[in-house]
Amino acid sequence: MTAAGVIRGTTSDRRVVIPLLRRLRSAEGQANPLPVWEDFRALGEVVPAPWGGYFVTGFELCNQILRGRNWLVPDFAWQERQPDPARWQDPATREMTRTLSRLNPPVHTFRRRALGNLFGRDTLDALRPHIAAHAARLLDRLEAELHTHGEADFVATVADQLPVHTVGHWLAIPAEHYPHILDFTHRQVHAQELIPTKSELAISAQATLEMRAFFTGLVARRRTRPGNDVLSEWIRYWDAQYPDDRAAADQMLYDLTMFITIASLETTATLLANLVWFLTQEPARADWLRRHPEHVDDAIEEALRYDPPIHLNSRFAAEDTVLAGVPVAKDTTVHVLYGAANHDPRRNPQPHVFDIRRKGGHLTFGGGAHYCLGTMLARLEARLLLTRLLERFPTLRPTGRPTYANRMVFRRITSLKVTS
Ligand code: HEM
Repeated sequence: MTAAGVIRGTTSDRRVVIPLLRRLRSAEGQANPLPVWEDFRALGEVVPAPWGGYFVTGFELCNQILRGRNWLVPDFAWQERQPDPARWQDPATREMTRTLSRLNPPVHTFRRRALGNLFGRDTLDALRPHIAAHAARLLDRLEAELHTHGEADFVATVADQLPVHTVGHWLAIPAEHYPHILDFTHRQVHAQELIPTKSELAISAQATLEMRAFFTGLVARRRTRPGNDVLSEWIRYWDAQYPDDRAAADQMLYDLTMFITIASLETTATLLANLVWFLTQEPARADWLRRHPEHVDDAIEEALRYDPPIHLNSRFAAEDTVLAGVPVAKDTTVHVLYGAANHDPRRNPQPHVFDIRRKGGHLTFGGGAHYCLGTMLARLEARLLLTRLLERFPTLRPTGRPTYANRMVFRRITSLKVTS
């Protein structure tokens, strides 16, 4: 330990993490990533990655990187400076690199300011009755399936549906498009893996074409029939910013609408499915929460801490620096491991215990300039759904373990079978 209480990087072997990455991506690692995070943490605070960057495992150091002005997101300019720029040329990666999550100041600052507080009190108040009503309808459907088949898939029936209905309602997208939106979102995400395979990139490229066609069409239709919705507001704003350049305004509107939609779907669905899995696998937990509904928000924060829907995020060093004693050269990437950080015992004692009353800290929504814009919406969906679910399904329990997509970065529960 250093004077600051930080464990230094301990290994210089860049290959040592390869088996850990394989495990993290495997069905076993996805079903239980905790031992993999432990093994990462045991290697040190700053662990070399095979491709030249570093994984960062400790809570405080991850927090410092996310909030630090000297750490930037890998943007187009960074990609062009890499020895293998072709690695970033596929259409799905390029599409994502234009979004907010891959922009740096001053462009990022300007675009984010233009959005303002997306989910302020008035917006949430307006959305609340709709989300509550839709959660109730999805739970009716769950009840009907349990009644007919004795078992239901919580993910397909509820967890995947509530986020798409919520964001769809907010953007005034007709419900008939929701299955297609869900489908291309699941396929597009491969390109955001750490080392996507060629076949994954091909799947993402096709999904990107569909995504582009859908959202450019949506923006074009809304232009002809603007309303009181948020997309119509954005159209008015960006048209005023680019009065002589309709194509530039359209590109901006596409990037924004597409990214906010897809950013809100799998992440929130994983949170909702995780909540049900963590609470119902031990009926005493769900019973306790039913008797103490004032702790519903604490249960949501603990689920976010315990199993973050996004496993890792990347930044690069804007200048030469030193991280926990490890020299990191300008342009080197670091991968912040949210799960390992949230399970750092120096921040959250007994981190592997799911403790609703913990009041712990987590980095699940990131931090600093890129801090998630949808935190309040995700929390509202979770609160409204969980409150109703606890009231209506006192004996709900899983019939087996959830299944997961084989991915490393964006976690996805593909199925969670439940009975009552
Ligand atoms: C449980 C649900 C969610 C989780 C775990 C989550 C997590 C994250 C994370 C880790 C980041 C990156 C932060 C960073 O780089 O420091 C992020 C960014 C973002 N999220 Fe979320 N998110 C969730 C829900 C949502 C929702 C519901 C929306 C919108 C409706 C949303 C919109 C965004 C946007 C637009 C960004 C980019 C912000 C920027 O780069 O400036 N997210 N989210």
